[in-house]
Amino acid sequence: MPMPWPETTSRSDAGELHLGGVGTVSLAAEFGTPLYVYDETTLRSLARVFRSTFEAAYPRSRVVYAAKAYLSPAIVSLLWEEGIGLDVVSGGEIEAGLFAGVPANAMTFHGNNKGEDELRLAIDKGVGLIALDNDLEIEMLSTLAEAAGRRPQVLVRLNPGLSAETHHKMLTGAVDSKFGFPIQTGAAREAVDRLVEHDALDLVGYHAHIGSQVFDPLLVRETVVRLMRFAADVYGRHGIAPRTIIPGGGFGVPDDGSDEGVSLTAWAGAAAAAMREESARIGVPLPELIVEPGRAIVGPAGVALYRVGARKRIPDARTYVSVDGGMADNIRPSLYGAGYSAQIANRAHVGPSERVTIAGKYCESGDILIPEISLPSLAAGDLLAVPMAGAYCLAMASNYNMAPRPAVVMVADGKARLIRRRESVADMLAMETFQFPIDRRVVSNG
Ligand SMILES: Cc1ncc(COP(=O)(O)O)c(C=O)c1O
Repeated sequence: MPMPWPETTSRSDAGELHLGGVGTVSLAAEFGTPLYVYDETTLRSLARVFRSTFEAAYPRSRVVYAAKAYLSPAIVSLLWEEGIGLDVVSGGEIEAGLFAGVPANAMTFHGNNKGEDELRLAIDKGVGLIALDNDLEIEMLSTLAEAAGRRPQVLVRLNPGLSAETHHKMLTGAVDSKFGFPIQTGAAREAVDRLVEHDALDLVGYHAHIGSQVFDPLLVRETVVRLMRFAADVYGRHGIAPRTIIPGGGFGVPDDGSDEGVSLTAWAGAAAAAMREESARIGVPLPELIVEPGRAIVGPAGVALYRVGARKRIPDARTYVSVDGGMADNIRPSLYGAGYSAQIANRAHVGPSERVTIAGKYCESGDILIPEISLPSLAAGDLLAVPMAGAYCLAMASNYNMAPRPAVVMVADGKARLIRRRESVADMLAMETFQFPIDRRVVSNG
């Protein structure tokens, strides 16, 4: 099957969609729906493609997985087995990465408002690289490092003033952004001048991330050039050579699989060429290049399975087909218009015969998973499979309408392993701490 489906996707003679050699009908029967299915083969092969492509283009390179796309300890530990480190953005992600067996020194720590407790955790655990995003972080980290007798390696998060041609909510590199120090305004230069006064911080390089769903390698090249030119300025003024450059993640992969996605070879080639040219220009040894793919690694490996329920035909408008999930497990269509495709999983041999709207089950008119799609006529009980669901779906899942978060399975070689059990209503209620009936002395004003 072509993208957007996982590599091991196949169809039985009876028309049942199989993932990793396991039938989706039996997956749904055993684990219930909505169910998120990750294909181990696809995860491993994408991890290997990333590593080998970057190693070939630029041997001093490293790949870290942007855990925000979906932090499953099972997936993170599998990626670590493949030599892929971890990009984390919170204390929780540091803890979860450690729980998964990823050493702290293989982690890069980002975020635009790291708390003191999170910075302390990063120092205590020995997180490999900490990207400093603002003055408060510089001050806090320096104080904490001094107190702990450590000298953490830090990057400065730069805003290179570039905007990827992508949805405005994904943009992080334009000048008006909450992320990083803008180069253009001089703020980044001033920040480095202050940072180098702190002996407790070891400035090793620069980081930027210009947004998600970047398809143009020229933007990658330009990002690296801007980071390296900034590095040249710091080298000239402070004699600090760049040792690490991170031009971020954001490798474009269309949610609906409508084309191949960004060419990794072109991406890696563009970054590598800019690294070589600019290092030679500055006259410094080649810095390490780190890239941070999230979506491009887990997105294509994950498929969401939903059970079809009610149908509603609105004459002269549309036919709604509702499924048993929606914005609580995948908010991306309502949040920023992400366009997904789908396939009927229990009768995958049947061709499309109607145009429908796939609606979620939650109490928002905007809870529409797919605004328009051609599918075979769907009936209650059918199974709908949504590919490219591995990234930023479960990661952003909520308990809206007291919806328990879905179970997650990993499939490989004809076997399915439950890697996260379905949440229960009891799990959600377990966090409610008030005593019932309410003690009036606590709630009254008197
Ligand atoms: C700093 C940083 N690196 C990497 C990523 C991963 O982006 P993507 O999942 O699009 O590859 C993000 C996403 O927001 C990010 O902010």
